[in-house]
Amino acid sequence: MADDERIVSPEPSDDNEDSIEKSLRPQTLAQYIGQDPIKHELSVYIQAAKQREESLDHVLLYGPPGLGKTTLAMVIANEMGVHIRTTSGPAIEKPGDLVALLNELQPGDILFIDEIHRLPKIVEEMLYSAMEDFYIDIVVGQGPTAHPVHFPLPPFTLIGATTRAGLLSAPLRDRFGIVEHMAYYETADLQEIVTRSADIFNTRIATEGAHEIALRSRGTPRIANRLLKRIRDFAEVSPDHTEIDLAIVNHALTLLRVDAAGLDATDIKLLSTMVDYYDGGPVGLNTLAANIGEETETVAAMYEPYLLQRGYLKRTARGRVVTATGYAHLGRPLPNSEGQS
Ligand SMILES: Nc1ncnc2c1ncn2[C@@H]1O[C@H](COP(=O)(O)OP(=O)(O)OP(=O)(O)O)[C@@H](O)[C@H]1O
Ligand SMILES: [Mg+2]
Repeated sequence: MADDERIVSPEPSDDNEDSIEKSLRPQTLAQYIGQDPIKHELSVYIQAAKQREESLDHVLLYGPPGLGKTTLAMVIANEMGVHIRTTSGPAIEKPGDLVALLNELQPGDILFIDEIHRLPKIVEEMLYSAMEDFYIDIVVGQGPTAHPVHFPLPPFTLIGATTRAGLLSAPLRDRFGIVEHMAYYETADLQEIVTRSADIFNTRIATEGAHEIALRSRGTPRIANRLLKRIRDFAEVSPDHTEIDLAIVNHALTLLRVDAAGLDATDIKLLSTMVDYYDGGPVGLNTLAANIGEETETVAAMYEPYLLQRGYLKRTARGRVVTATGYAHLGRPLPNSEGQS
């Protein structure tokens, strides 16, 4: 199955989902559910910056896709009472693009750069002085008429988001005063998110129904909202359902092949391939990807992180290994060998 058809993919599926996500986005820190330590810290920094009438320090948000990085950037802008301009690393191709973006900012405004690890190097280097001292030096013109121009900037806040903090260069990372790691959400938080979204959709949902969706959402609000949307369709066409209850959630998720832990058919294939053909591992990522017919990058970015987080898989120096918990989830007996845990 291609990843964009995958119901439990943490990536947005299409433009339609994009617009639904916008309608579900919380606007304030109070509406932003979960991530309590981050919210608490940010509320202090926001309040302090406002009291000093200064721009907020630069913020780096990192963590897996669909956890609410873009949403949080919007919330920060709203709480600061400033404009936010959003772009992404690959969209800023040359220094002129960056100058144009910075030039439009008013004092205190936010520039949000998604996928900041994908900024071209030459653009990244220009950001250093922009972030540190609010100026950029650029060369205008070509050949004999080329001359340097010193370009002062209004104080602004850069919010960078990345799913791959490890790919960020040290000089760039060091220029962010506030660095926040977004963690997978607790079940209770996801349940609250689902309940809130159902409310926005004007759909009735039972507590047990919301809880079950939360359990199967891989710790990810984007997946929780997507599952809710699909289950709502099942509930609406079912004559004996006035609300999303546990029965309809179970029914829909069985049909959608999302299991009790939020794993889909590909996750199960990945784990059972390791058990059936490699005695549970160790197996190299490339071999594994080839076996299940996926790109190595896709397995590394989309499948493996959640399996690692659940403790079904572990990484060893020689490759990936299925853990005892992984065997238990598959309902398979553990092989009689050492080295499994
Ligand atoms: N804390 C939250 N409370 C309520 N809803 C949330 C929260 N975080 C995320 N969401 C919902 O999840 C959706 C996805 O969030 P968002 O687009 O901000 O994720 P992201 O981390 O930026 O993902 P990506 O890495 O793909 O850019 C949003 O539309 C929002 O409705
Ligand atoms: Mg985003």
